[in-house]
Amino acid sequence: MKTEHTLSIIKPDAVAKNVIGAIINRLETSGLMIVNAKILQLTSIQASEFYAAHQNKFFFNELINFMISGPIFIQILKGYQAIKKNREIMGATDPTVALSGTIRSDYGYNCTKNAIHGSDSKKSAIREISYFF
Ligand code: CDP
Ligand code: MG
Repeated sequence: MKTEHTLSIIKPDAVAKNVIGAIINRLETSGLMIVNAKILQLTSIQASEFYAAHQNKFFFNELINFMISGPIFIQILKGYQAIKKNREIMGATDPTVALSGTIRSDYGYNCTKNAIHGSDSKKSAIREISYFF
């Protein structure tokens, strides 16, 4: 019933740091299962479409430039309450305030370069998964 799918993206900063495996290990250890995955380098159009909800935010241009700066690892995670669980393991948007032991606390750098994306709701998860898969 509460088994869900969510979209996770290991962002260009974390891919460049060579920590895809370390991050995946945390997700798997928590009980989430990777059911599909691919590495892509996004175009500006793709990144802008994916983050369309943020197009009026002050950080939009910085976010898009960051997200197209290198390859990303895109994956579908499956598990019990996967959307909420994934967000908990990720930690807060700002790595400097994210709880210790979270992915963003350990691998993020700042509010933009924060290592990982995770869908924030059932509706976002459906949209984001269908955007890439
Ligand atoms: O990713 P999350 O859902 O935690 O945060 P968001 O508010 O949906 O923002 C999406 C992404 O925009 C963040 O993960 C950051 O990469 C970026 N961002 C930023 O560059 N500067 C901010 N002040 C806030 C977010
Ligand atoms: Mg978000």
